[in-house]
Amino acid sequence: MKLFLADESATIELGRRVLLRLPEDLAGWTLLLSGELGAGKSTFARALIHAGGHHGPVPSPTYTLVEPYELARGNIYHIDLYRISSEEELRYLGWNELDDGFRLVEWPDRAPGLLAQADLALHLEYEGSGRRAELKGLSRRGEALVEALEKS
Ligand SMILES: Nc1ncnc2c1ncn2[C@@H]1O[C@H](COP(=O)(O)OP(=O)(O)O)[C@@H](O)[C@H]1O
Ligand SMILES: [Mg+2]
Repeated sequence: MKLFLADESATIELGRRVLLRLPEDLAGWTLLLSGELGAGKSTFARALIHAGGHHGPVPSPTYTLVEPYELARGNIYHIDLYRISSEEELRYLGWNELDDGFRLVEWPDRAPGLLAQADLALHLEYEGSGRRAELKGLSRRGEALVEALEKS
């Protein structure tokens, strides 16, 4: 699904729409979030986490690697792989134990093997004064979610 996001509010709306399409139980879902600096990754992540019911700030996980949010629908883990250089290093952040929640992963290209186990990939790019977004389903349930979003 390709979208033009004219301004920040459109990026926020996309974050909300994705969250609302997820099943009640968020466990085991993974979304890969890519795009260069300033593309809107944090804006999208913040909107999705707020739509999940979190009210406070959403700090960048750049230094902590993982920022967890315990929400009524399940946990959301905001993960930053910038400092990771291979799949093997994923165990340093306890990747396997994070499967009880929704994993929202920035800099997923650091661990290309994640493509095979992720459900969704969102790529953001600059386009004029706005952004171009491409949301792809990587698993069957991810594809179904994107199809449902396209129809809505
Ligand atoms: N669709 C959009 N069009 C224009 N500006 C946007 C859009 N989405 C987000 N922004 C703005 O881009 C800037 C960078 O966003 P941010 O989410 O911090 O990017 P990233 O985390 O990818 O570095 C922010 O000022 C944000 O308000
Ligand atoms: Mg950011």
